[in-house]
Amino acid sequence: MSAPLYRIPGTTPASGDPTAAAQATPGAASAQAAPDAAPLPRTVAEVLASSQVETVLDELDRDLVGLAPVKQRIRDIAALLVIDKLRLNLGLAAQSPSLHMSFTGNPGTGKTTVAMRMAQILHRLGYVRKGHLVAVTRDDLVGQYIGHTAPKTREVLKKAMGGVLFIDEAYYLYRPENERDYGQEAIEILLQVMENQRDDLVVILAGYADRMDTFFRSNPGMSSRIAHHLDFPDYTEGELLAIAERMLAQQNYRFGAGAREAFAQYLALRVTQPHFANARSVRNALDRARLRQASRLFADRHRELSLDELCTIAEADIRASRVFAAPTAQSTADAESGDGSRWLAGGAR
Ligand SMILES: Nc1ncnc2c1ncn2[C@@H]1O[C@H](COP(=O)(O)OP(=O)(O)OP(=O)(O)O)[C@@H](O)[C@H]1O
Ligand SMILES: [Mg+2]
Repeated sequence: MSAPLYRIPGTTPASGDPTAAAQATPGAASAQAAPDAAPLPRTVAEVLASSQVETVLDELDRDLVGLAPVKQRIRDIAALLVIDKLRLNLGLAAQSPSLHMSFTGNPGTGKTTVAMRMAQILHRLGYVRKGHLVAVTRDDLVGQYIGHTAPKTREVLKKAMGGVLFIDEAYYLYRPENERDYGQEAIEILLQVMENQRDDLVVILAGYADRMDTFFRSNPGMSSRIAHHLDFPDYTEGELLAIAERMLAQQNYRFGAGAREAFAQYLALRVTQPHFANARSVRNALDRARLRQASRLFADRHRELSLDELCTIAEADIRASRVFAAPTAQSTADAESGDGSRWLAGGAR
């Protein structure tokens, strides 16, 4: 595959020679350093120090609750890139490793959040030039009419070059029931670019595990280009509670007396109800609790509000949720309007 069908303008040339990628990436520019420049890193510690990648890895550990296997996998990938850099510094030629990935898991399990961190890590280690994330769904890639798909897909690829292209619900690209579906055209272009420009673009396909399996079985070309499969499990109730406390703390709120226990009960009920979307449902529930807190304080208009009152989510703010009112499936869906329904509808958020 020497001459790529699709070259995205303004991007680095595809090459099996890792020094070509190194020249184009600021982080790896030292591979071509002038004689009087600082010596090339020769130890893992030196690469870590010069790339500052450990800060991102530590933030990932600190900011995200649970996800131990995902975090470990990311450390493994970082290790691979660090060692690759040391090999390159000693003149060992190698193809840059393929880093296209699939992130499978239910809604709200942290896939987009981790993909953004991944983009930063890849950038700091000099694998991609910019380290930004472009998140798309089928509608951003596939046109409605003949001739519309290739330009749309190429435009998206151009934007994503130098970073990470995150394709949510990637299996919607493939619709075998419709024999004239343009999704296949987008897949062909993606396959070309994933192969030929993999030293400057990482593609992450995300979605439900079972549908992704079916997609990969029907698209072996795509499957063979994905080097890393990361599975995002549902959070336990304990993890969801920890996520809630972290989200509140980030916004200078905290649970008042009895509110934490009330939220634990809320979660126990909520996880069994329709459209539950893990950490996303926690975020939505806390947003509604903040609304109730605000209405409660607003009613008291002549009293000076203390810092403590302004920061506290009270037990009543949690217990007023409809989830406690022995809801039917429909009333829950109403209460959670928008929460998780994107996933079912397959549209963009
Ligand atoms: N482990 C975690 N710790 C703390 N916050 C988390 C964690 N996982 C997810 N979140 C938060 O939950 C929200 C949803 O996460 P995110 O959008 O990454 O999930 P997702 O898997 O991409 O969901 P969807 O599939 O619905 O797009 C975000 O606000 C994110 O910050
Ligand atoms: Mg997402």
